[in-house]
Amino acid sequence: MALELSGKRVIITAAGGGIGRQTVKLFSEAGAKIYICDIDEEGLNATIAGHDNVGGMVADVSDPAAFDTLFERADAYLGGLDFMVNNAGTAGPTAPIEEVTLEDWQNLPKRQPNQRIFGHPARHSADQGSRRRRHRQPLLGGW
Ligand SMILES: NC(=O)c1ccc[n+]([C@@H]2O[C@H](COP(=O)([O-])OP(=O)(O)OC[C@H]3O[C@@H](n4cnc5c(N)ncnc54)[C@H](O)[C@@H]3O)[C@@H](O)[C@H]2O)c1
Repeated sequence: MALELSGKRVIITAAGGGIGRQTVKLFSEAGAKIYICDIDEEGLNATIAGHDNVGGMVADVSDPAAFDTLFERADAYLGGLDFMVNNAGTAGPTAPIEEVTLEDWQNLPKRQPNQRIFGHPARHSADQGSRRRRHRQPLLGGW
């Protein structure tokens, strides 16, 4: 089934490599205009290269304040927003279970990006009141 996203405006976080970069490729081929971010500038530029419909900036989505700039610049580039792909995340310790330390485990919440709350488009909309009501959802459980 072909994906059809002509004219759709999309933000994708952590798109400087991995699944994020592949999502950019897929969405770009489907006609979307995309604004991306990553902490890795080289990776970010490599993802953007070769696309004339992809812009981006270096941003660390573990910093809630970074989302203000990200949404501002994305809005200037895209002229609105249809989809947000909050792709950044961590699967946690990937060692055999008997090698995972208490420190690895306890540091996990600190390494989770803050995008679940601070990267939600409803926080960055002019129409926050009605959007907040529409987007009421459990904020904990299931990343
Ligand atoms: N790879 C898998 O098998 C798998 C499976 C299920 C879910 N996921 C989830 O999918 C997402 C992407 O996975 P991946 O394997 O492509 O990840 P990855 O580790 O390859 O990272 C992709 C990108 O994230 C960027 N990044 C890391 N921290 C960042 C931050 N704080 N701010 C901005 N950018 C940041 C990195 O620089 C990198 O370019 C993650 O949320 C991951 O938990 C992955």
